[in-house]
Amino acid sequence: MDAIALLKADHDKVKRLLSDLETTTERGGKTRAELFATIKGELTIHEIIEEEIFYPALKSHPKAKDVVLEGYQEHHVVDLLMGELESMDVSDERWGAKATVMKENIEHHIEEEEGDMFKKARQVFDRGELEDLGERMAERKMSAGRELGVPVGR
Ligand SMILES: [Fe+2]
Ligand SMILES: [Fe+2]
Repeated sequence: MDAIALLKADHDKVKRLLSDLETTTERGGKTRAELFATIKGELTIHEIIEEEIFYPALKSHPKAKDVVLEGYQEHHVVDLLMGELESMDVSDERWGAKATVMKENIEHHIEEEEGDMFKKARQVFDRGELEDLGERMAERKMSAGRELGVPVGR
């Protein structure tokens, strides 16, 4: 499995879930809380496979190092926002605003990865390496899902 195709499929799924989350309201607490839990699970596993497998492999190439270092920091900001949302009641009037800021941060991060980062990945990895990274990430997705008790689709 190609690493870039795997990460892109994850991105598309998260973007869909984030659009769904945006339509939820303070009164639709159950839907909002469930969707948020799904998004948090998906993103947590996605960050694990990137930070354990894709980012370290890419970072060892000097021309890709800066964009990878930025990626780690963008994950960190999203983690902070997710943590704050998790500890806040979904009926809080600030919840939706904070979720919008989280969504914007994630969308920006995905754009950076699919733009500059994947461009560099295609330059420094050959086809076989991308396949190998993809295989390892697919396996890690399954094991991380089991460890965290998050059902992993696909
Ligand atoms: Fe990603
Ligand atoms: Fe990422």
